[in-house]
Amino acid sequence: MKKLMVVASALMVLGAVNVQADEGEKTYKAACFVCHDAGIAGSPKIDDKAAWAPRIAQGLSKLEEHAIKGFKGKTGVMPPKGGRVDLSDDVVKAAVKYMVDRVK
Ligand code: HEC
Repeated sequence: MKKLMVVASALMVLGAVNVQADEGEKTYKAACFVCHDAGIAGSPKIDDKAAWAPRIAQGLSKLEEHAIKGFKGKTGVMPPKGGRVDLSDDVVKAAVKYMVDRVK
């Protein structure tokens, strides 16, 4: 019985991780791709390792903060939540993780 509980909670954790990954991709494709797919307006292009490396070096929490609150850097302006202020902080964080995972 105890073993079963352990298996069940492990599956729940895996499920949660999957939901987060799907959410990140979904959010990216809904709100972030317009700029980041082609590197529009000075945005770091998705999959461009060289553009992302120095940004990732700031740490994930800095990237999340910039994506949520908006950020003006050397190459352009990242609008808060990509202009989609209706999005929750959590889905924006998931989208950042999706983008970062793509260049790993
Ligand atoms: C209107 C265009 C636009 C949209 C839409 C957009 N971004 Fe950006 N984003 C930018 C630009 C421009 C920069 C680069 C700013 C700079 O460094 O000068 C940027 C930078 C970033 C960075 C790097 C921040 C840093 O500290 O280097 C992250 C992370 C990011 N965007 C996440 C997102 C996410 C997540 C979304 C969708 C919710 C999104 N962006 C939507 C334009 C956009």
